[in-house]
Amino acid sequence: MTGRLDGKVALITGGGSGIGKASALVFAREGAKLVVVDVDADSGQATVSEIENAGGQAIFVRADVTRSAEVRAMIDRTIEVYGRLDCAFNNAGIEGNVGVPISDYDEDNWDRVIDINLKGVWLCMKYELAHMLKQGSGSIVNTASVAGLVGGTFGAAYYASKHGVVGLSKAAAIENGKSGIRVNAVCPGVIRTEMAERVINDDQDIESAIELQHPLGRLGMPEEVAETVVWLCSDAASFVTGQALAVDGGFVAQ
Ligand SMILES: NC(=O)c1ccc[n+]([C@@H]2O[C@H](COP(=O)([O-])OP(=O)(O)OC[C@H]3O[C@@H](n4cnc5c(N)ncnc54)[C@H](O)[C@@H]3O)[C@@H](O)[C@H]2O)c1
Repeated sequence: MTGRLDGKVALITGGGSGIGKASALVFAREGAKLVVVDVDADSGQATVSEIENAGGQAIFVRADVTRSAEVRAMIDRTIEVYGRLDCAFNNAGIEGNVGVPISDYDEDNWDRVIDINLKGVWLCMKYELAHMLKQGSGSIVNTASVAGLVGGTFGAAYYASKHGVVGLSKAAAIENGKSGIRVNAVCPGVIRTEMAERVINDDQDIESAIELQHPLGRLGMPEEVAETVVWLCSDAASFVTGQALAVDGGFVAQ
């Protein structure tokens, strides 16, 4: 059986949960050899076990994407084990304070959200690109959000960080296009993951309001984002770069 990512080596941050975990499983199903990265070792290792149990190949590397030494070590380990890096999905992120107006937004929380969601993506790309440039090929996808395409209330750092990821992805695409490297951002609507569960907090009114924001009338599933990321990373998307692609059930069409 041939997969869309046969022979490719793919690294995914935030691979222990939600969109990152679903993507790791779909990437492996499509033939990629995986590097699953997460700050949480138990969940990251569990993703690796699931991939191996399904007959795929994966290693776990623990790294906090805000720490440059750990990010550099994660790329060094990838090259040590697999000898190359073809696809990188820089996806680790946090929601930060939700429901808090800008005037009350906590400074430490602001720094943490920007650190993980924006600086973390830059640090990952810094070390991934250094290797891909030597290789002369590669495809990078960064997780932004619909919150990187439109504004919203009561989560200022999240909106700012995700708009930053869109800008950073475009800059990286333009800078590296002639070197055979494509860079895109994926912009999910609200997806049923632990992050979304924390925001919904078992409140049916909040969940119904979120469903109404999506013309498809429901939340998305992590696998629906994963399928788009696989396509962006695959050779089928060979002329696609610098895009911020919404996978959002129509959220930003309204
Ligand atoms: N779920 C949604 O509705 C939604 C919508 C749009 C965008 N996103 C984005 O998708 C990405 C994944 O979100 P999710 O919903 O799967 O969340 P999740 O909370 O289920 O998973 C996030 C993963 O990232 C890891 N992580 C957090 N901080 C890290 C760090 N400093 N270093 C390494 N790993 C770290 C966590 O341990 C966790 O495994 C995030 O960037 C998020 O902002 C999510």
